[in-house]
Amino acid sequence: MTCYGDAVTSASHQATIVDQFTRQAVPFSEAPGIKDEQALALLVAESGAGPDDTVLDVACGPGLVVAAFARFVRHATGVDITPAMLARAREIATARGLTNVQFDQSDVTSLPYADGSFTIVSSRFAFHHFLDPAAVLAEMRRVCAPGGRVVVVDLLASDDPAKAKAMNEMERLRDPSHARAMPLAELEPLIRDGDLTIRRRAFYRLPVELEAVLERSFPAPGDADRVRAIFAASLADDALGLGARRHGEREIRFEYPVVILVAERPAR
Ligand SMILES: C[S@@+](CC[C@H](N)C(=O)[O-])C[C@H]1O[C@@H](n2cnc3c(N)ncnc32)[C@H](O)[C@@H]1O
Repeated sequence: MTCYGDAVTSASHQATIVDQFTRQAVPFSEAPGIKDEQALALLVAESGAGPDDTVLDVACGPGLVVAAFARFVRHATGVDITPAMLARAREIATARGLTNVQFDQSDVTSLPYADGSFTIVSSRFAFHHFLDPAAVLAEMRRVCAPGGRVVVVDLLASDDPAKAKAMNEMERLRDPSHARAMPLAELEPLIRDGDLTIRRRAFYRLPVELEAVLERSFPAPGDADRVRAIFAASLADDALGLGARRHGEREIRFEYPVVILVAERPAR
């Protein structure tokens, strides 16, 4: 099987990540589906976070997940590779008066923390950007304390392989830092194979308006029109598995399916 990662080196992918997320830092943090407090509250509730927990959020971006946890836990740390995202995270945390948070810069394929440092290790909307999600998951497990929780939240690709392939191709055109969204049937075994026990799962749909998401993405020249054409064609047969439909004459709306998976690191 040829994987997306086969054609892309990790250094060039990292450069693409930093380029995209430097430009996306502010608009991403302001997108309604990203800052949605109800969705953030669901993530925190599913994780079972409480006052004794210490949290690490992996690929934290603008720190909205860190900020959501910070209200309930002892301390929350965010780690990300993109300096502009970390600057945005510190700005948001300061504006909210949060004093129990910290933000660090690192590539999350090698986390700069000792084994078992955190009781909850989360990552939201980032696994589809990783060339080697299993390697990141292994690091998340390593820094999670025995008996602690690893929480993975991500967009899901369709269970239909043709729709999943079309969705991932479209996403890479829209945002060249996209690697590959997985169907649930692949994400769950990845977590179980990482020696974690899935304890809870929750699902929701993240509503998006096509022009709004294109506005805050930075496709290569000409690719925004290719994305528009792919969506227009998908209206007839839902070829992307995203439920795309017209709203009024001009708008196209769709929804990303999202899963919250809460897994436990065995206590041994
Ligand atoms: C779509 S944003 C999600 C941000 C945040 N988790 C949220 O849900 O609001 C993806 C983030 O992953 C970060 N990222 C992607 N690959 C990374 C890597 N290998 N190491 C560290 N950060 C990475 C990007 O810099 C970006 O901030």
